[in-house]
Amino acid sequence: MGVSLASGLAASAQTADQAWLRKPDRLVLFGKVVALGTSLIEQSAAQELSRSVSHPASVKGGISSTFEEREKSLTVVGTAEEIRKAYPAVPIPGDLKPEEYWLWWNGSQESGLSIVAGGDERGALYGAFAIRRLPATAEIGKLKADYPHRDHPAIPIRWVDEWDNPDGSIERGYAGRSIFFEGGNVREDLKPVAEYARLLASVGINGCNVNNVNAAPQLLDADHLKQLARVAEAMRPWGVRLAMSVGIASPQKIGGLATYDPLDPAVKAWWADKVSEIYALIPDFAGFTVKADSEGQPGPASYGRTPADAANLLAGALEPHGGVVLYRAFVYNHHLAWRDPKADRARAAYDIFHPLDGKFAANVIVQTKEGPIDFQAREPVSPLFAGLRQTSQAMELQVTQEYTGQQRHLVYLAPMWKQALDFDLRADGKSTPVKEILAGKSFDRPLGGMVAVAGVGRDAWLGSPLAMANLYAFGRLAWDPNLSPEAIAAEWTRQTVSTDPAVVNTVVKMLMQSWPAYESYTGPLGAQTLTDITGSHYGPNIESSERNGWGQWHDADSKGFGKDRSVATGSGYAGQYPPEVAKMYETAATTPDELLLFFHHVPYTYRLHSGKTVIQHIYDSHYEGAAQAAELLSEWQTLEGHIDQPLYEQMRDRLRYQAGHAIVWRDAIVQYFLKLSGITDEKGRAGHYPGRLEAEDARLTGYKVIDVNPWEDASGGKAVSCDQPQMPPPGKSWKPFCEAEWTWNGQEGMYNIAVQYFDIQPGKAEFSLGENGKLQLGPIGQMWTADATLPSAHPHGDNSTRHIVRGVWLKPGDVIGVRVIPDGNDHAALDYIEVTPAMRNKALVTDLPCPQGKLIEEGDGPEAVNEKVGPTLAGWAGYTNVGTPVEAMQVQVFRGDEKTPIATTLTNEEGGFRFPGLAPERYTVRATKKDYFPSEEIVRLDPNAKAQVCLVVEASE
Ligand code: GCU
Repeated sequence: MGVSLASGLAASAQTADQAWLRKPDRLVLFGKVVALGTSLIEQSAAQELSRSVSHPASVKGGISSTFEEREKSLTVVGTAEEIRKAYPAVPIPGDLKPEEYWLWWNGSQESGLSIVAGGDERGALYGAFAIRRLPATAEIGKLKADYPHRDHPAIPIRWVDEWDNPDGSIERGYAGRSIFFEGGNVREDLKPVAEYARLLASVGINGCNVNNVNAAPQLLDADHLKQLARVAEAMRPWGVRLAMSVGIASPQKIGGLATYDPLDPAVKAWWADKVSEIYALIPDFAGFTVKADSEGQPGPASYGRTPADAANLLAGALEPHGGVVLYRAFVYNHHLAWRDPKADRARAAYDIFHPLDGKFAANVIVQTKEGPIDFQAREPVSPLFAGLRQTSQAMELQVTQEYTGQQRHLVYLAPMWKQALDFDLRADGKSTPVKEILAGKSFDRPLGGMVAVAGVGRDAWLGSPLAMANLYAFGRLAWDPNLSPEAIAAEWTRQTVSTDPAVVNTVVKMLMQSWPAYESYTGPLGAQTLTDITGSHYGPNIESSERNGWGQWHDADSKGFGKDRSVATGSGYAGQYPPEVAKMYETAATTPDELLLFFHHVPYTYRLHSGKTVIQHIYDSHYEGAAQAAELLSEWQTLEGHIDQPLYEQMRDRLRYQAGHAIVWRDAIVQYFLKLSGITDEKGRAGHYPGRLEAEDARLTGYKVIDVNPWEDASGGKAVSCDQPQMPPPGKSWKPFCEAEWTWNGQEGMYNIAVQYFDIQPGKAEFSLGENGKLQLGPIGQMWTADATLPSAHPHGDNSTRHIVRGVWLKPGDVIGVRVIPDGNDHAALDYIEVTPAMRNKALVTDLPCPQGKLIEEGDGPEAVNEKVGPTLAGWAGYTNVGTPVEAMQVQVFRGDEKTPIATTLTNEEGGFRFPGLAPERYTVRATKKDYFPSEEIVRLDPNAKAQVCLVVEASE
C-alpha cells in the first residue's frame, strides 16, 4: 500500500454540504421562513434558514399573505427597511450598517416570530448563516438570553484570492485543478463555484479574486470578460463579488499600445474603457489585485514611476463604478547582492511603500503579507502596517499551505494569524494592534481588509479534510479578529466532524498542537526557510536559500546562525518598527527566542531565554516536533468508530505520512547542523540512529549507490537507486527487479521495520519486504506500490517517505530483503530500513515492563480489570501472544463499578494509553483486543493469549 493522499470525498459533485455546511443536528428555528425581498441574496438567506427549521419552509418573495401564516411561528428575513415596513412593532434599530445583522425573537415557540434583519441584503444573509451556526457555537445559550443580537464585520474587505491559471492549473494549489478554469477558458460547469461562494458567504467572505497574480493579462480580452461574467453570476446569490488580478502591462500586452506608462493619457483612457467594459458585464465587480515590479512581473518601475502612480491609474478607472484596487506590497528585488550584509529582502516593502504614504487614491488598499518575507512558518509582523498612516491597508495570508506542509501536513494556521492580528506595533507609543489598523480604527481609514490566498481545487476544496478548518478560521477572524483560534476550531469541528464533546476536544487539541509541531520539526527560532526555496517549497534543502538573489537567507555557517537585521550591526530592518518594538528586536537579549535567528546572527553556543543553547534547541525541537507529529496520529486513532469512517481513514493516512515526513525533516536538519557546527547533541541522539540499516551498506542486486542532493535529505547522504534491474531467475515470472538485503545480527524478538524510500513521479514502483521465504512474516505478505503524489522528480526530502511493517519476528541470521520493481522515472530509490523493537508487545510475550505501575494479568477472556485513582490514568496495554501484536487495544475507563464507560480510547502505536483530567475517584480500567486489523498489519494471535495492562497513576498535567 502506498501513501494515498488523494481525497476520497472528491469523487462526486463537490458541494458546500461536504464541508462545514452540513445539516445542523440541532434545530434552532420553527415554522415558516419568509424572505421579504425578492433579491437573489435574500432568497439565499431564506434558503439557508429553511435548512435550520423543523419542517419544510416556504420561501417566497413578498410578505406571506394570510393571517394564519403570519401568526404561526414565522422566521422573517429582510433588510432593516423591509422589516420596518412590514412589522412596525418590531423594535429594529435605526442604525444598522451595511453587512450588519440583527436577530430578534418574540420569545414564543408556538406562535413565535423570529426576525433576521440586515443593514443590507448581505447583512441579512450573514444573519441567516449566524443562525445556522448557532448549534455549533458555545454562544447558543448566550444568544437566547441576549436577544436581540447584532453583529457586524470588523473589517470591510474580506476576500479570498485564488492563484488559478486559465489552463486550469493552480499556483501553490494542493487540491487538484481549478474549479474556475480549464483549457484557457472558464469551465462550463460552474456549480462548484456557486457552492464555493456559499461556503465563503457562510463565514462572511464578500469577495473572490479568481485568477493568479502571475497570470493576468489574457483574461482581460472581451471574450474572457464575458466568461468571467458567468463566474460573477454564479457567486452573486451569495454576495461574493468577483475580483480579478490584472497585469500593469496589459495596455501594451493586449491593448496594442506602445506603452503602459501609468502617467500616459492613452494608457489612462485604455484602462477607463476596459473598466467600463467590465462593469457593463459585471455591475457588482469588486476590483483589481495587482502584482507589479515583483518576481519578474512588469510594473511602473519600467517608466521610473511609483507603485502609487500605478495604483492610482487603476483606482481612477474603478472609482466611478465603486471598485477598489488592492495593490500588493510584495515588491522586492530578487537579484539581491547576497554578499552584501546590508542587503535585506525583509526591508523592501517598507522601503518602497512607506515614502508613498498619503499618495494613494482613496479606493486603493495596500495589501501586505503578514510577515516581511513570504508566508513562512514563523515571521515577525510586517512593520509596514505601522508605516502607512494615510493609506488603507489589507493583510494577505495563505490558507493554501505553501510553506506549511502543503496540506499533506496538518497545520492549523489560525493561532499564527491571531498572533499577527493581536501584535501591538506601538505606533506613536500607543496601543496599535494590527487588527485595529486593518479595521481602519488606528489611523482612521475608510477601508481595510483581510485577504487569504485560498488555493481551493476540485479535490474536496483543500484536499485534506482538516485543512478546511483554515478556510473557516480565516473567514471567522476576518469578521471578528477577537475570536479565539480554539473557539473557532471547536465551532468548525462541531459542524464538520462531530458534536460529541470527546471528539471535539481531541480534534481541537490536535489542531492547536499542529502549528507548534510543524514549526518545531521544520524551522527553528525564526531562522527563515530551510526548505527547497528554488523548487517545491516542501521538503528540507537548507542551503538552497543561500548564495542567491532571492534574499531568504538564514546565514548559517560553521560558527553561527541567523540573519543580523539590527540597526547597529546588521541590515537595519529592526529599525523599521515603531521605537518600542524596534528596541525590542534590536538586541538578541530582548528578542523573543522564537524570532532570535530572524533578527540576529549568534553562535551556536548562544544561550536562549529558555536556558538552552541554540544548537541544543535545534536538536531538541526537531526531536520533540517529530514526536508531536506522531502524537497527532495517535490522537486521531482514538477517534475511530466515533466519526465518519472514510473521513477517519483519509486523515489517518495523511497523519501517518506526516509522522514519517516529520522524521525526514528532523533528520535532515539535525544531521546538517551537527556537521556544520561540530557540536554534539547532549542527549546523544543526533547522528545516532538505533536500528537503522543503510541501503548503501546492504547486499545489492541491480541497485546502485547514489549521492542524494541535498545530502542532508538522505540518511548518511546516500541512497540506492534501481538503475540496473535484473532479470528474474529462470522459471520466475517477476518483472526486472532490484534487491537490497541485510542480515539481522540483533537479538531475537518482535520488531517493526520502517522502509524509507523515495516515491518519485511519474511511475509507480512496487516494493516488497521479506518475500521469498527469507523472512517469516506471518500469514500476509508485505507489498506496496509507491503511488503517492509528492513533489520533485529526483530522490529528495520532498518525496522521501516510509512504509512500516509491524510485528516482525526476527532471529539472528535472518535476512531482511527489500525487493523492488522500478517503473519509469521511479527507480525505487531506497534510503534505509529502521528496525525498532515492537517493545510493548514483544515484552508481553513474557512480561509487560511496568516499573512504576501495577501489572494486571486478567482472568477470563481478553480483558483486564483493575482499580486506580485519578487524576491521570495512563499505562500500557497489550496482548500476550507468541506471535505478532494486535494494532491496538481498546481501553475503557469506568467510574467505580459502573457498567458504562466514561471514556474510551485506543492504545497508540506503542501500546500506550492515557486518560487525563479525571477527578480523584476510584476507577476501573478494562482493555480489550480491538477487532480491526488494517491490511498492513500482521496478526497471529495465540488462542490462549491473555491481555495485560500496566497502569500508572500520573501527576496532574
Ligand atoms: C511566493 C510564491 C509565488 C507567488 C508569490 C506572490 O513567492 O511562491 O508562487 O507568486 O509568493 O505572492 O506573488
